[in-house]
Amino acid sequence: MRVLVVGSGGREHALAWKLRQSPNVSELFLAPGNGGTASIARNIPVKADDIPGLVRAAREHRADLVVVGPEAPLAAGLVDALAEEGIVAFGPTRAAARLESSKAFAKDFMARHSIPTAPYRVFADYEQACSYVLSLTQPPVVKADGLAAGKGAIVPGSIQEALEAVRRLMVEQELGTAGTTLVLEERLQGQEVSLLALCDGSTLAPLLPAQDHKAVFDNDEGPNTGGMGAYAPAPAMTAAVQDRAVREILEPTVRGMGLEGTPYRGVLYAGLMLTEDGPQVLEFNCRFGDPETQALLPLLEADLALLLWQCACGQLDVGAVRWRAGFCVCVVMASGGYPGQYRTGLPIYGVEAAEALGCIVFHAGTRWSSGQLVTSGGRVLGVTAVGQTLKEAIDRAYAGVRAISFEGAHFRTDIGAKGLQLCRQLASERRCT
Ligand code: AMP
Ligand code: GLY
Repeated sequence: MRVLVVGSGGREHALAWKLRQSPNVSELFLAPGNGGTASIARNIPVKADDIPGLVRAAREHRADLVVVGPEAPLAAGLVDALAEEGIVAFGPTRAAARLESSKAFAKDFMARHSIPTAPYRVFADYEQACSYVLSLTQPPVVKADGLAAGKGAIVPGSIQEALEAVRRLMVEQELGTAGTTLVLEERLQGQEVSLLALCDGSTLAPLLPAQDHKAVFDNDEGPNTGGMGAYAPAPAMTAAVQDRAVREILEPTVRGMGLEGTPYRGVLYAGLMLTEDGPQVLEFNCRFGDPETQALLPLLEADLALLLWQCACGQLDVGAVRWRAGFCVCVVMASGGYPGQYRTGLPIYGVEAAEALGCIVFHAGTRWSSGQLVTSGGRVLGVTAVGQTLKEAIDRAYAGVRAISFEGAHFRTDIGAKGLQLCRQLASERRCT
């Protein structure tokens, strides 16, 4: 099978790394890929949002399967455009991708199908949004309806801050048209877990629960990023809670999308809050998580190419999704200043040394310049390690991080710490310790 992966981040390097292990993959292409994917596949210089360019590349390189990484091309209809050319693609159609591309659509969909999520209201009028905020006793979470690269949700500390957020999005249009319509919803309390599932339009196979670390600094302080690290499986989601999330959230979502004439094929990513009343949906994404994917795929004991092909063709073999025992941790090394401004073009040293310590180093913002690996983005590397215990995986990943250097490199030092703390509390979960 000739496979084309769309995207250029750590998630796409992890997908390519796992696809490379499949005996069913003869040729692997990335559009546009990064410095890491260049050494295991062929990078094609087509941007991930260039829909006609991607369709042309898939045709020219005779791709049997296109795997779409990021949300933007899905929301722009890449899978639909490929289908018109008879090219099989893994990912939802534009209509199905609305679960991520419109938060108002997602919330109304959940209401229609009784899927647990925070109570909410949708507003397209500034004055009405403000009156609603003023009628509340607690500040609501303020969310831009459209795609906003992870910047679309604001959790205000007071009613005044909520009003300010509404003004910035609706009047100042800080996120452009994404903030023309807003979702205002009740704030939920609990641990956050990402539960992803492979879907073929009617059946689904959940992946292991993972936990992301969105804030840039330790102890979840500082501004939100794309994700500073992840680990799996997340002990916060017990088997019983996962069963409940599958029964009350994932299955009704796939069923509902089918009933509404927009069957869901691809990865359904449910960002969940584990509340006292059970798991509730914070958001849906229509793609693999980044960096959750880097922490999930090293534990997958299955042929990824076959699974993705089966999903795209509506014939997922749920039983084939198997996992090895143990834990996986991915620590993101970012450019100094990220998620604000940062420099690029800085030489990166020590990747091979980290690999020699047993780490898998997934590249995100890297490229080659005159034979030297250099930084080219905010999130630069995802240093990843597997261990029999969570502690072992954490220690191994951080040993890899210490072996790598580039000017201004920044990383969190507490990736997986919440999981470790929980493991210690749940002494009965022997495999955690
Ligand atoms: P979203 O883009 O909707 O996932 O929101 C980004 C982040 O905002 C989430 O990862 C949560 O940390 C936080 N968040 C979103 N919705 C809520 C909510 N209803 N209650 C509490 N926190 C939330
Ligand atoms: N890790 C968060 C996301 O992929 O949206």
